Amino acid sequence: MFADQQALRACWHPVGFAADLTDRPMPADLLGEPLVLWRGRGGSVRVMSDLCVHRGTALSLGWVSGDEIVCPYHGWRYGADGRCVAIPQLEDPGRVPAKARVSAFAAQERYGLIWVALEQPRWALPEVPELEDGGWRVVRAGPYRWRCDAARQVENFTDFGHFPWVHPGLLGDPDRPVVPRHEVSTEGNVLHYSIVRPEAPNSDDFPVFGNEDSGPPTRRSRYELHLPYTIALRLGWGGEHGMVYFFASQPTGIHSCAGYVVIGRNYNFGQDDRVLAEFEDTIFGQDQIVVESQRPERVPFDLADELHLKFDAVAVAYRKAMRALGLAASAPVGPD
Ligand code: FES
Ligand SMILES: [Fe+2]
Repeated sequence: MFADQQALRACWHPVGFAADLTDRPMPADLLGEPLVLWRGRGGSVRVMSDLCVHRGTALSLGWVSGDEIVCPYHGWRYGADGRCVAIPQLEDPGRVPAKARVSAFAAQERYGLIWVALEQPRWALPEVPELEDGGWRVVRAGPYRWRCDAARQVENFTDFGHFPWVHPGLLGDPDRPVVPRHEVSTEGNVLHYSIVRPEAPNSDDFPVFGNEDSGPPTRRSRYELHLPYTIALRLGWGGEHGMVYFFASQPTGIHSCAGYVVIGRNYNFGQDDRVLAEFEDTIFGQDQIVVESQRPERVPFDLADELHLKFDAVAVAYRKAMRALGLAASAPVGPD
């Protein structure tokens, strides 16, 4: 039982950072489907299938003209709704057959990301007001492209047991490997849980957190895991300092994903954004090695697969909820 590629089409997924999208067409993969993203008139986001209906050429190799995208091979032009509006080879280029169209998809721009749903989405995006409040400093990191499914990447993010082992000195203390008690509650497509855990002091290399260096530091972490692949994590150290850690994984294919990190914080305004971004690069690099070694490359959602202990409560709740919502389903045995 694995993530159901069909059911995932009816969810919002990130496909790129909004700042990277201009009026130059950009390719992106979502659930094995090649997409082309571009900005049309007024900067509005357009998302279409990246296959020209004429000969299957990638429209992302073409260019944008007004509110149309032009195929690089024979110059057919497509409007925002995916309909071909001009075929230059015809004596009357406007006499376009009705079949000449490509699929266009719903898109929105939020939290500095472009989001796409391939079918009518079942749930709205999470609300993270801190990231839209001008008073918080926002830093982006990633995308982290891993050879595993998006569920493996999300579970890694939520896995408490690995911090001291994979990130010693940065996210965990090897002398304190016990996972504190935590409860998970599931409401609709959202898992809620929080934890107060011992953490490493701010390191000299990456002084990115809001805790003071003295005393045994603890951090309160309040998680919302929005199924299938989005997490809003709020960190606090008992004072005014707050950090919102927003993570969303793009299911590019069955065995591949791209993780986007958007972090907001109300302190350390003077710090160069690169400090936080390089910290994330380090953390995600450490995780990538172990996660890409996992087999199968995608999360098996049957609880009889793999061994779950009490401190894996989040993964258990995640796997149950994915199944209950129809986002995971039985798949044929064998590769892909
Ligand atoms: S392949 Fe696109 S116009 Fe011919
Ligand atoms: Fe990790």
